[in-house]
Amino acid sequence: MERCPKHIAIIMDGNGRWAKKQGKPRTAGHYKGSENVREIAICANRLGVEVLTLYAFSTENWIRPQEEVNYLMKLPAVFFERYLKELMENNIRVSMIGEIDAFPLDTRNVLLSAIERTRNNTGMVLNFAMNYGSRREITLACREIAEEVKSGIKQIDDINEDDISKHLMTAIYPDVDFMIRTSGECRLSNFLLWQLAYAEFYFTDVAWPDFTPDEFKKAIEVYNNRHRRYGGL
Ligand code: IPE
Ligand code: IPE
Ligand code: MG
Repeated sequence: MERCPKHIAIIMDGNGRWAKKQGKPRTAGHYKGSENVREIAICANRLGVEVLTLYAFSTENWIRPQEEVNYLMKLPAVFFERYLKELMENNIRVSMIGEIDAFPLDTRNVLLSAIERTRNNTGMVLNFAMNYGSRREITLACREIAEEVKSGIKQIDDINEDDISKHLMTAIYPDVDFMIRTSGECRLSNFLLWQLAYAEFYFTDVAWPDFTPDEFKKAIEVYNNRHRRYGGL
């Protein structure tokens, strides 16, 4: 593809509704959704995407029934057990944003080990947003910058937009070019508010487990026909 977005962010929504439609428990939808992460990650890497940020668990998702939360905590182990080898073969580097300290120790270890084992890979960054919330992220950034001012490292008048970007969890990644949300809802649900300032948005009714590589390529084609003006003409 001639003009592939560098940074794509996806709100992988609709696992529960997908499962319900099949007469299955919501957890079956999450499982199927995790299989689709593999499909889309491999496809995105082949297309030349540099960073793929996937919303996997929000700071708000803790209020779901305990059973569902527990299942979601166990999914990373299942996912990396099945697919880490393949991610390695595809030269994909795993990364995380969010406060994973809140996760059970074994889940955390699985995540950290995937990051560690793929850290020298030079292909696409597969960045999972886990226990991630944009307002929380911005709040933490404000605290860090306030500390810098307090200790005299920084003057208030010198704080600029770049400083804020650099204090976010996405500091080392470029702003998002293209944001996809599956399964019909047209909202951000506390995802990357700052980083999406000039992103192109794409909403589709297709549920995440049904969002195939062909659907993904269709979305990128739509992106390629958009005209990004950034306030200019
Ligand atoms: C997205 O699917 C996955 C997570 C939020 C973890 P949902 O679980 O939100 O599925 P729906 O929106 O209820 O169908
Ligand atoms: C957003 O989906 C979070 C993830 C996809 C991980 P939700 O299903 O939690 O969002 P709302 O509740 O519909 O806004
Ligand atoms: Mg949902």
